[in-house]
Amino acid sequence: MQAKDETKAVGRLMSEYMRGRISRREMVRRGVALGISSSALAMLAGSPRRAFAQDSTPTAGAGGFRTLVAPAGLRTDLQGQTVRAMLTDPSNPDRAWQEAALALFSQTTGATAEFVAGETSATDRLAAYNQQFAGQSGDIDVYQIDVIWPGILAEHAIDLKESLSDLAGQHFEAIVANNTVDEKLVGMPWYTDAGLLFYRTDLLEKYSLQPPTTWDELTTTAQTIQDGERAANPDFYGFVFQGNVYEGLTCNGLEWQYSYGGGTIVEPDGTVSVNNEQAIASFERAKSWVGTIAPQGVTTYQEPDSLNVFTAGNAAFLRNWPYAYATSQESAATEGKVGVSPLPKGNGPDARHADTLGGWQLMVSQYSQNQEAGIELVKFLCSPELQLSFAVERSHLPTIASVYDAPEVAEASEFIPRLKEVFQGGAVARPSSVTGELYNEVSIAYHTLLNQVLTGQKDAAGAAQEMEDQISSIIEE
Ligand code: GLC
Repeated sequence: MQAKDETKAVGRLMSEYMRGRISRREMVRRGVALGISSSALAMLAGSPRRAFAQDSTPTAGAGGFRTLVAPAGLRTDLQGQTVRAMLTDPSNPDRAWQEAALALFSQTTGATAEFVAGETSATDRLAAYNQQFAGQSGDIDVYQIDVIWPGILAEHAIDLKESLSDLAGQHFEAIVANNTVDEKLVGMPWYTDAGLLFYRTDLLEKYSLQPPTTWDELTTTAQTIQDGERAANPDFYGFVFQGNVYEGLTCNGLEWQYSYGGGTIVEPDGTVSVNNEQAIASFERAKSWVGTIAPQGVTTYQEPDSLNVFTAGNAAFLRNWPYAYATSQESAATEGKVGVSPLPKGNGPDARHADTLGGWQLMVSQYSQNQEAGIELVKFLCSPELQLSFAVERSHLPTIASVYDAPEVAEASEFIPRLKEVFQGGAVARPSSVTGELYNEVSIAYHTLLNQVLTGQKDAAGAAQEMEDQISSIIEE
């Protein structure tokens, strides 16, 4: 295409996008096809707030996100109330959608909703929240809270039962139950998460390989692709995951040990289950990846680090959460080349596929001065309409069953309806219910020692013994 035609084509694309006729994702997809990089497109498109201001029909396709539409029946008498919500982390790819959603809320209700970024690591985020709660700070009205935290944060949350019971009735019962502490509805489910395997379909094809169903197969498949790709790309790796010392490693570790039939760290009856042959075998398997099919630096990776390697085209396999799919479709190196499957199985008689249950809820702070607007924001963000948009635009898993069957969801991310059964019942929960307020300490003991196995500071059997000792003494307190 001539430079002039190209400019015209990009101009047309931008105008369609600014008018809200196509989604941001569609705009990026078409722009990339025209040879424009996704970061340049993001700059051209500007911030969603600007796009929003130019949109003459703010209730349809807010912020350039075609599906972002306000639910009916929101209050409109909240003028003068400002609600500050601590949502995703500063450079998260979900941020633009979240900011556009808050702008739509403000437009619809008359309240002013402000986005405040939180910490990237769940472990650091909890520490920051605890600090704010210790000071009874009313600075933030609404917080996103992890699926493992209702027991830890219950005392700082208002009870959403009275005001939002109809909405709670639409969400998965098990997640609502997880958010209920001593009869109090601490949080409203926002989206759920499950650990998944993302892989490069083009590379499997190139080397005539199949997606792996066991960790052993993943190891050899990743090695074959890495050996082949290294010739042209010295930065290429077979597999990336989250090995840093933080909550994300607890999630990876649980998947490894549970997939080998090695237990759930602490069983529902309180038995500590980490120091057994199967769990140890799974830790040894994971250790074998570091510096071979995975970079040495994987022991410092959190979700964004591993995702960046993958979307740059530098890895064959990635373990991550569903949002990684939407992001991978916005990068020229991986667009249209990503398959999604359950994580591989381990070995042994009780081997199975395992995906850690993750996900986020929204709570209103007990110390907030704007609780009514806070409740309304929760109602808005956790509505079926917003869950549909979050699923379509950002590939987040809804917590309302009917949203899985919307055709727009299948069109944007075929794996969401395809793996529905895996998501609805198959995920393995971290032991937060049985350990209650002590969960975070248990998790820290576990991921600190597991990281030392990955870096080679401890052998797997010794670390498993130490995990058992430390976790037992935490829960016996
Ligand atoms: C994801 C999950 C969350 C988990 C975190 C760990 O955000 O939804 O439950 O704790 O990852 O990094």
